[in-house]
Amino acid sequence: MRILTDNIYSVGVQHWDRRLFDELIPLPDGTSYNAYLIKGSEKIALMDTVDPEKIDLLIDHLVKAGADHIDYIISHHAEQDHSGSIPDLLMMYPDAKVVTNPKCKGMLISHLHLEEDQFIEIEEGQTLSLGDKTLQFVYTPWVHWPETMSTYLIEDGILFSCDFFGSHQATGDLFVTDEAKTREAAKRYYGEIMMPFRSSIRGNLKKLEPLDIKMIAPSHGPVYNRPEMIIDAYHGWVDEDRIVNKVVVPYVSMHDSTQMMVEYLVEGLIDRGVGVRQFNLTVADIGEMVIEMVDAATLILGAPTVLLGAHPSAIYCAALVNALRPKTKYAGIVGSFGWGSKMVEQITGLMGNMKAEMFEPVISKGMPAEDDYTAIDELADNILAKHKDLGIV
Ligand code: FEO
Repeated sequence: MRILTDNIYSVGVQHWDRRLFDELIPLPDGTSYNAYLIKGSEKIALMDTVDPEKIDLLIDHLVKAGADHIDYIISHHAEQDHSGSIPDLLMMYPDAKVVTNPKCKGMLISHLHLEEDQFIEIEEGQTLSLGDKTLQFVYTPWVHWPETMSTYLIEDGILFSCDFFGSHQATGDLFVTDEAKTREAAKRYYGEIMMPFRSSIRGNLKKLEPLDIKMIAPSHGPVYNRPEMIIDAYHGWVDEDRIVNKVVVPYVSMHDSTQMMVEYLVEGLIDRGVGVRQFNLTVADIGEMVIEMVDAATLILGAPTVLLGAHPSAIYCAALVNALRPKTKYAGIVGSFGWGSKMVEQITGLMGNMKAEMFEPVISKGMPAEDDYTAIDELADNILAKHKDLGIV
């Protein structure tokens, strides 16, 4: 338990050794489930709870913070890493009410089987007085789920933003101490779950502009006492036109043909002054790849053919990219086959959500020959030309 500021306590927990979220998202630095106890002169509110796996530590922190009662449990988001301990807390604090918006209430009833009379519904912009502290609710939907909201604590200028602005980091530091590290972790988190909803996030950022935010207390990672750092970073990530001279090249290779083509392309791009990141899908941290896709101008997927289709690792990558919908402007496929292939049609079909303009694919039969390398040279020339057209070279 740590003190955030006068009468506000950080009572969440660190999950140091968690390595996957949703059995999908790598967590190289673990994560935290932040919760905050606000003691007003008349009422006490708890901002979110923690993953049920860690409820014992939350209870320990609440006891240390002197939470002999709780009036309100503010639920910003129905996903269980923040809401999952609400049922147990309601048993511990039977007079507490869950305060949330109607959509989140419906989801909490479905997910946690809470009862109607355990809620207080709030509306966009509504305030709730704790006496000398006032909570104002700001709907910030589609921070990957539709019901998400934030709370602005008016007197202290603190925004409790839940997943929004969060970073998956377990740390003993209450506040951000290494801005570059936290920005990178937040970019990973943004890319992994928020990027497909960036038009909604643009709206959410606009909605926050009138607020005098002195501190952002998210529900994952350290607290921002210099909030402009992360707000500025988000503005860049959600801006469709803020892309960089970079090509992301995820690939997989079986008998080296695709690897030879990928390496030739990557060297060619470097020689032409185009930024590039190569990821071998069999060993890569997918989160690193997603970080790069947040603002890369181009994606080139490298794949060999297995049983007429793309290698399953490449199929996974294509499906992931399709789900995350990065603002990538250009895309292409390089790869190889032994005796026949339908992988170009397959991968193109899998990436139907991408609005990227596709380059002509370069597919070799077996080991790449001179004409394949010539085609890759042309691909590298085309990428450079497109990046110049975008004004990013
Ligand atoms: Fe941290 Fe969407 O839950």
